[in-house]
Amino acid sequence: MRLNSPQINIINRACIKASKSLIRDFGEIENLQVSAKGPGDFVTSADRRTEKIIINELQKAHPDYEIITEESGIMNKGNTKNKWIIDPIDGTMNFLNGISQFAISIAYEEEGEIKCGIIFDPIKNEMFYAEKGNGAYLNNSRIRVSKKNRLKDSLLVTGGPGRSNKKRELIFQEFVNVSNNVDAPIRKFGSASLDIANVACGRFDGYWQWDLNYWDIAAGIVIIKEAGGFVDIVKSDSSLPSKSNIIVTNSVIHEELGNLVFKD
Ligand code: IPD
Ligand code: CA
Ligand code: CA
Repeated sequence: MRLNSPQINIINRACIKASKSLIRDFGEIENLQVSAKGPGDFVTSADRRTEKIIINELQKAHPDYEIITEESGIMNKGNTKNKWIIDPIDGTMNFLNGISQFAISIAYEEEGEIKCGIIFDPIKNEMFYAEKGNGAYLNNSRIRVSKKNRLKDSLLVTGGPGRSNKKRELIFQEFVNVSNNVDAPIRKFGSASLDIANVACGRFDGYWQWDLNYWDIAAGIVIIKEAGGFVDIVKSDSSLPSKSNIIVTNSVIHEELGNLVFKD
C-alpha cells in the first residue's frame, strides 16, 4: 500500500481480513454447484459474513462513523460528516456461479466528498486504491487511464439490465439503443466496481450503466478521478429514485460516449 491516510489503512485492513474468508467461501462454490439446491443460501451467508467482518474492522477504529452497506442498510444514521460505504461482494452473480470476477468495494466519504477507496479483487490479488490528491494505484504501481481518443478504437464495458421486465422496460430499451449506436466492442463482466477499476488502469477505455447503487460506485469514483479519468453521474429518473446512471471514461472519449448515453 503506497498511501497512508488513517482511513485508507483502516479500509485496507478490513479488505484483507474479509478476503480470507471470502476466498475460502469461493472455494466451496464448485462443490455446491453440483448439489440440487445450488449455492444460493450459501452465497447469501458468505455475503453477510464478509460484510460483518468489514463492519467490525471499521467500527473498531471509528464506532461513530455512519455506515452505508448493501446488506445491512444504514448504521449510525445522522453522522453526516464521516461515512463508510461498503459493498462486501460486488459481482454476486459471478461469485454464485464460480466465476472469479468479483470484488470487495469500500469507500470513505467526508463532508459529502469521497476521500479514499479500495476495490479489492481477492482472487487475482489485485488491489485498486486511491486517496484524493495522491493518485491511484494497483498494488504497488501507479495507474492511469488509457489515451485512446476515438470511440471506434476503444474497448468499452457496461452492465445490466440482464433482461427486460415491466419495471425495467425503459432502461432495457435505452441500453439496447446505446449499444446499437456505439461503434466499439462492448464487454459485460458483471462487477460494476471492477468495471470502473479496469477503466482506471487502462484495460477498458469507457464504461456506462444505469441504475447503480452508491456502494457499487463510491470507491470507483475516487479511483477513476485519481487515475486521470472522468466520471459523470446522473440521478436516475426511472422508477428507482435513489439510483444513479453513470459514465466513466479515460477523459478523451468522454464527450463522444456522453453524447450517446446522456443524449437528452
Ligand atoms: C451488481 C454488479 C453488476 C451490476 C449490478 C449490480 P452486486 O452488484 O455490480 O455488475 O450490473 O447492477 O447490482 O449485486 O453483485 O453487488
Ligand atoms: Ca454491487
Ligand atoms: Ca453486493
